[in-house]
Amino acid sequence: MKKLLPLLLAPALALTAMAKKFDQLALTPPMGWNTWNTFAADIHESLIRQTADAMVANGMRDAGYVYIVIDDCWSLKQRDANGNLVPDPQKFPSGMKALGDYLHERGFKFGIYSCAGTRTCGDYPGSWGHEFQDARLFASWGVDYLKYDWCNHGTADARDAYTRMRDALFAAGRPVVFSICEWGQNKPWEWAADVGHLWRTTGDIYDSYDGRKGWESGWKRLLDQQYSLVENVGADGLNKFAGPGHWNDPDMLEVGNSGLTLAESRAHFSLWCILAAPLMAGNDVARMSPAIRAILTDRDVIAIDQDKLGKQGFRALAEPAKAIEVWIKPLSGGDWAVCALNTSNAAADLTLEWDRLWTLDRRTYQVRDVWAKKDAGDTSKPLTVRVDSHDVALFRLSFAK
Ligand code: GLA
Repeated sequence: MKKLLPLLLAPALALTAMAKKFDQLALTPPMGWNTWNTFAADIHESLIRQTADAMVANGMRDAGYVYIVIDDCWSLKQRDANGNLVPDPQKFPSGMKALGDYLHERGFKFGIYSCAGTRTCGDYPGSWGHEFQDARLFASWGVDYLKYDWCNHGTADARDAYTRMRDALFAAGRPVVFSICEWGQNKPWEWAADVGHLWRTTGDIYDSYDGRKGWESGWKRLLDQQYSLVENVGADGLNKFAGPGHWNDPDMLEVGNSGLTLAESRAHFSLWCILAAPLMAGNDVARMSPAIRAILTDRDVIAIDQDKLGKQGFRALAEPAKAIEVWIKPLSGGDWAVCALNTSNAAADLTLEWDRLWTLDRRTYQVRDVWAKKDAGDTSKPLTVRVDSHDVALFRLSFAK
């Protein structure tokens, strides 16, 4: 028995070691671009290459958007005779290894999509029963990021299904950011911190402020579902579950898509940064306007999302009668980000009464208007700002020197 003990313990020890293996991959929320929100099934290797080239030229890569992720609808409708997934040769004639090489040569990381069920949401083969085989295939293509969906899962248990794919990725040996996409249905924030690096908290986003189309919601509705610990509204208080290596994912960005005004794109981006959300652009970045590019690449706003402290922000104040919501996020060095949203359909003067954001320390802070790039006094007196409909004013507060 003495001799056997090390042998019996070995798998358990190996598993513990594996559970820690990829935990340095997403110490700040992942950033990149994903095909789904704009292109859905209409994808091709030339689109991926052009997008990567555009992201080098327009500064997105250097601003931190390094994961280029091919979402659903990239494979043939059936596996081959060996049970392998097959990239659609019409869409990816050079194959996935070549595409991964192209991305890696330009400083990007390569992301792909599969599903925990038998078929993906777009009715392509899912990874159910093929987890280890698929993880090995992805590793052979140089995949660095896997988005893993939840359609057609039958009676499967979410935690088991996602843990199995995590273990398959570990076994394949290539470090992969694992993006859990079960839409918050099984409260992944309670169990997924050591399974994946990010987990969706809601159904799908579409390019609307607060619209609803069945399964899809505008960004304001998704924001409302994150809610706040401070007011104890909605009870979930999801911010407490996020941290370095494990993030809530309120879904990808619609910034720059046609259903949003410029103000709504700016507000959406600002608030996703307050949420420490993964920043996966979902627009046609090769053809976006300079104004949208300026939003997506603003270093000061991105710094709020990517702050090393890794704390998700929350809603500190909501006053529907005054059409104002204030969301705040603690930052490293004792700074705070403060974002005031105008929820009305017209421009309005919003007054920030700093002492009502009671989570803030009572000391006086210097106030910097992050989008306007100018100082805005200090917190010793209230600040009134003109904000367009569905737009935000975004501030960074620092201790007075
Ligand atoms: C689900 C996901 C989306 C997208 C589609 C693809 O709806 O939530 O983000 O991946 O599937 O079919």
